[in-house]
Amino acid sequence: MLEEWPTLNCGIAVITQGMITLARKVVRSYNARPETFWVEQQYNCLHTILTYYELTNLGFDNAMNLGYDEKYNVDKEYTQFQIPQDTDFGSRFCLQLYRRVVAPALERKVGEGATILEISCGRGGGTAFVAEIATGSTVVGMDLSTTGIAHCKEKYKSRTELTFQQGNALALDFEDESFDIVLNVESSHCYADHVVFFSEVKRVLVRGGCFCYCDIMPPTSFEQLKALVHHLGMQVNIEEDITDAVLSALATQGKRRKEAIAQLPMVVRANIANVIGAEGSTTFNNFKEGKWHYYRLFVHKPI
Ligand SMILES: C[S@@+](CC[C@H](N)C(=O)[O-])C[C@H]1O[C@@H](n2cnc3c(N)ncnc32)[C@H](O)[C@@H]1O
Repeated sequence: MLEEWPTLNCGIAVITQGMITLARKVVRSYNARPETFWVEQQYNCLHTILTYYELTNLGFDNAMNLGYDEKYNVDKEYTQFQIPQDTDFGSRFCLQLYRRVVAPALERKVGEGATILEISCGRGGGTAFVAEIATGSTVVGMDLSTTGIAHCKEKYKSRTELTFQQGNALALDFEDESFDIVLNVESSHCYADHVVFFSEVKRVLVRGGCFCYCDIMPPTSFEQLKALVHHLGMQVNIEEDITDAVLSALATQGKRRKEAIAQLPMVVRANIANVIGAEGSTTFNNFKEGKWHYYRLFVHKPI
């Protein structure tokens, strides 16, 4: 027994030292960005789980939104912006949401070599799709999650027109008037301040540039958001309630997503069911009961 003491003591010392180092790292990270710390940790965990379990049938491997069913397109199909043939079933709905939101801007700008910024690019699949259909453009994807950005950088390292960087949507690390198009998909509900966010978008847009936006919110918040856009001196060109198209995408993917969730550890299932809007989750029910809607906006900064 006595002979084992040194090894045991050494083991305890190493574990204690490791825990102290980890705790210091967490405290340093929290102190550096207290307002975004928890959101970042939540998304870092989600990326780690998605990468580890490779759940392509969750439809969240490339992009992380609720999706859009194009049979609800009331006007254009935008089929000139092709979704890659090899896109898996689930990711296709996520990219259809991107196509719906960004197409009005690309219709005007394609071929001109636009500069495009996606704020909150998640796993980068949407950003890469936009870079592909916006021929001749340069595209930057930024996100709060360090794990997410590391994933994007690795996955798309061969794409020279595409770059990724970590940052905060409420303090954009870009020059004034540096982008023709700014894109934001299903992310602003995570931000602490919409006035700051929309002001930042306006700041980095060139004059005449456009902002393509969609997110989940109650109808009253949507009215407040449009008033904010107006107050900031920007112009709403298109507004659309796309709840039915999003709900239909969720219903179509319901079985696959349910099966995918069953492969995850029990402790994270309910949380992830909410994030992906699985049938029966609070997210899904809030849409069904009309508490939440899904809106898109196409906004211009005047010349
Ligand atoms: C539901 S995901 C959507 C991702 C992507 N737009 C898509 O559709 O695949 C929300 C994203 O917002 C990011 N996010 C949350 N708060 C942020 C902030 N303050 N600044 C930048 N990104 C943020 C998260 O890290 C996450 O990637």
